[in-house]
Amino acid sequence: MVGVLGPGGGSGVTTLAVSLGLAVAGAGRSVALVDADPRLGMVAAQLGLVEDRSLFHLVHEATLRPVDHASLRRHLQSWRGLAVLAGRAEPGSAVAALLPGLEAVLGLLAELHELILVDVGPLHSETAAAVAFRCQALVWVVDGSPLGADRLDRCLSSPFGRPLRSKPQMAVINRAGPGLPTQAREWLAREYGLSLLGLVPSDLAAVRSAEERLLPPVLGGALAAPLRRAANRMLEVLDGRGTRHQPSGAPASRLRPESSRA
Ligand SMILES: Nc1ncnc2c1ncn2[C@@H]1O[C@H](COP(=O)(O)OP(=O)(O)O)[C@@H](O)[C@H]1O
Ligand SMILES: [Mg+2]
Repeated sequence: MVGVLGPGGGSGVTTLAVSLGLAVAGAGRSVALVDADPRLGMVAAQLGLVEDRSLFHLVHEATLRPVDHASLRRHLQSWRGLAVLAGRAEPGSAVAALLPGLEAVLGLLAELHELILVDVGPLHSETAAAVAFRCQALVWVVDGSPLGADRLDRCLSSPFGRPLRSKPQMAVINRAGPGLPTQAREWLAREYGLSLLGLVPSDLAAVRSAEERLLPPVLGGALAAPLRRAANRMLEVLDGRGTRHQPSGAPASRLRPESSRA
């Protein structure tokens, strides 16, 4: 089970989670994508799926009676071979009930699928931290702005991030621009053992066109190739074929990309 998450909102977590899921499904692997971001729950919107079947409905059911494969199947939707559990909490629904219910749902999903990707959203809350902690490995979606790596450093040094540091960490740098701070990327790999899965350029036109056609950018356009490469690299790391940097264990210091230093 792999959590996809961001050190802040809007870094492209849902775009990456959907893209990684579709690329892996396209490679013939059995994969499920679970949207566990109760605040936004944008997976259904990006794929044009219904939201009256979702993780939160299933979790609610789990508080009333044990969930089984039949109830799970009623809530799963399929999008080009990717099994999707949508997830936007309705106003008033108890997000606190997510965690115990999620355990049951994930256990059942693991019986059906080789890989489970979880859209954790931004690591802003106790709930997101607990969901991320439940994952065996993490893919951080880091904004390719000069301060993107600094934001991740702060997040991993925070009380929410510190407990996650023992897990295998991967990262995709999204919206990578020409001024990308190379030293910052290398430093993060050294300090946190992050395997960098790749860089995805900033391309508003590709993303807009994907949103208009409800066809995620991994399936066509300028971002398809870098997104597929990141997915392949993720599979290599998960299959143990990728190199993983060992963290230096040094205390986290504040990171300022060289390029932004005065
Ligand atoms: N590489 C990119 N280039 C341009 N826009 C992007 C890129 N990645 C994501 N976006 C846009 O940024 C916005 C936030 O993306 P989203 O995946 O919903 O982020 P998050 O899940 O982190 O909140 C969306 O409008 C999305 O289309
Ligand atoms: Mg999102």
